[in-house]
Amino acid sequence: MKKPIKIASHPPCTLFLLFASVSLFCTSTRAAQELLIGFKATLNPSVSSFQSLLDDSTGNFSFGFLRVNSTHLALAVLHVPSNEPLWLASPTQLAPWSDHTQLVFNGSLVIFDSTGRVFWSTGTEGDRVVLLNTSNLQVQNFDNSQTVLWQSFDFPTNTLVENQNFTSTMALVSSNGHKALEAKASIVEGGGPVYIRVNPDGYLGMYQNGSKPVDVEAFSSFQRNNNGFLIFRLEQDGNLKGYYWDGSNWVLDYQAISDTCELPSPCGSYGLCTPGSGCSCLDNRTEISSGKCVASYPDNLCSGGGGGGGGGGETRNDFTVLRRNGVELPFKELMTHQTTSSQPQCEGLCERNCSCYGAVYNNGSGFCYLVDYPIQSLLVVGDES
Ligand SMILES: *[C@@H]1O[C@H](CO)[C@@H](O)[C@H](O)[C@H]1NC(C)=O
Ligand SMILES: *[C@@H]1O[C@H](CO)[C@@H](O)[C@H](O)[C@H]1NC(C)=O
Ligand SMILES: *[C@@H]1O[C@H](CO)[C@@H](O)[C@H](O)[C@H]1NC(C)=O
Ligand SMILES: *[C@@H]1O[C@H](CO)[C@@H](O)[C@H](O)[C@H]1NC(C)=O
Ligand SMILES: *[C@@H]1O[C@H](CO)[C@@H](O)[C@H](O)[C@H]1NC(C)=O
Ligand SMILES: *[C@@H]1O[C@H](CO)[C@@H](O)[C@H](O)[C@H]1NC(C)=O
Ligand SMILES: *[C@@H]1O[C@H](CO)[C@@H](O)[C@H](O)[C@H]1NC(C)=O
Ligand SMILES: *[C@@H]1O[C@H](CO)[C@@H](O)[C@H](O)[C@H]1NC(C)=O
Ligand SMILES: *[C@@H]1O[C@H](CO)[C@@H](O)[C@H](O)[C@H]1NC(C)=O
Repeated sequence: MKKPIKIASHPPCTLFLLFASVSLFCTSTRAAQELLIGFKATLNPSVSSFQSLLDDSTGNFSFGFLRVNSTHLALAVLHVPSNEPLWLASPTQLAPWSDHTQLVFNGSLVIFDSTGRVFWSTGTEGDRVVLLNTSNLQVQNFDNSQTVLWQSFDFPTNTLVENQNFTSTMALVSSNGHKALEAKASIVEGGGPVYIRVNPDGYLGMYQNGSKPVDVEAFSSFQRNNNGFLIFRLEQDGNLKGYYWDGSNWVLDYQAISDTCELPSPCGSYGLCTPGSGCSCLDNRTEISSGKCVASYPDNLCSGGGGGGGGGGETRNDFTVLRRNGVELPFKELMTHQTTSSQPQCEGLCERNCSCYGAVYNNGSGFCYLVDYPIQSLLVVGDES
């Protein structure tokens, strides 16, 4: 296995760089610039955070083993100056950190876990692996057009980098599992595939056919001739944020949701969010000071029921009722509703039905929303109806 050494930590190489034309000497000390069939790597036990296996031509990006919580490892593409991972091979499932974990390139990039089982694979029959100067990791063929068989840009994790296409078949998932809301845009049915891309000029463009975006979300740096590298990330709180690298820091350049109350469940289960003033609890006998409104709540009311409902049936009788006026479901326009003539009638559709966690009724419109998931944060509205 090659032991990667950064240029900066290797004075002779730095010296040579100052006097130019040194590639031979440097290639032998830096991580490889391509991986060929037969490549194998195991973990270096002395590496505490990131073990580089492949660099891009600028040295800004590196592909290798990333240690997560000292117990697990991820195969990652890192932005080297900030140590920020831009892509992970298998974000929802990490391999345990073990001396026996092995990365192989046999046409596919394959991770074998300590028992020799295939943990992750690109499933390709390529000739080499390269890391482009865009941070895109590719498995290529040696044919004339260097056919790309697989690329990390097609499997984004929680981050898009500039010029990376994002299509409707992809998803961004934050490191704790939030999924992005669908964007609204004027799209022509059958008018060709739709994708978004972070444009280096400082905006997120949505495209359908060709180079003119059909929708644009401008970053703060839009039209300010800012040359920092841009990324766009789905954060753990569910917000989408854009950043540029100013040479030493990631500077916030865009956020999709500026009002905290519009984030997914900003106040947690049974929380109540008041725009402009923050979180409290739906049940005014509880305090959010501990950070939570309820210590625990059932994930599934239909299982393990108890109560007098006849065990395993559709009904439950072991409940208490909490009513609160002047509240609204977030993103209720994305939920289905029925129309009932009164609040008790709406409540009746939910009561004793173990698939229903709550009901929200608007006595102006008569709309009755049945909540079929564990209650998350609701919004305070001025209107008591
Ligand atoms: C790593 O640690 C964080 C915080 O301690 C925890 O939330 C996360 O689940 C851990 N990840 C893994 C893969 O164990
Ligand atoms: C590479 O190794 C994996 C795991 O052993 C195997 O399934 C796959 O067929 C191999 N690919 C090639 C091109 O040999
Ligand atoms: C990145 O690679 C492309 C294509 O190989 C090249 O045209 C461009 O100049 C490179 N950019 C940098 C910053 O090295
Ligand atoms: C992004 O999509 C455009 C238009 O389809 C294409 O020309 C370009 O090569 C794609 N970029 C990447 C990095 O795949
Ligand atoms: C996109 O291209 C397809 C075929 O090239 C065409 O049928 C369609 O009308 C185009 N859509 C738009 C919005 O221009
Ligand atoms: C890449 O490195 C060069 C210096 O080598 C620097 O000017 C540039 O800003 C870096 N790009 C990124 C994306 O960090
Ligand atoms: C708590 O809510 C109940 C029902 O909405 C209301 O009757 C009561 O006055 C409230 N108590 C406080 C302290 O706000
Ligand atoms: C129970 O509530 C669920 C979710 O609202 C609904 O889909 C289902 O039809 C209800 N069942 C009955 C028997 O009303
Ligand atoms: C809805 O309920 C509120 C509060 O109970 C009441 O003040 C209002 O008149 C009601 N509106 C309608 C249309 O019934």
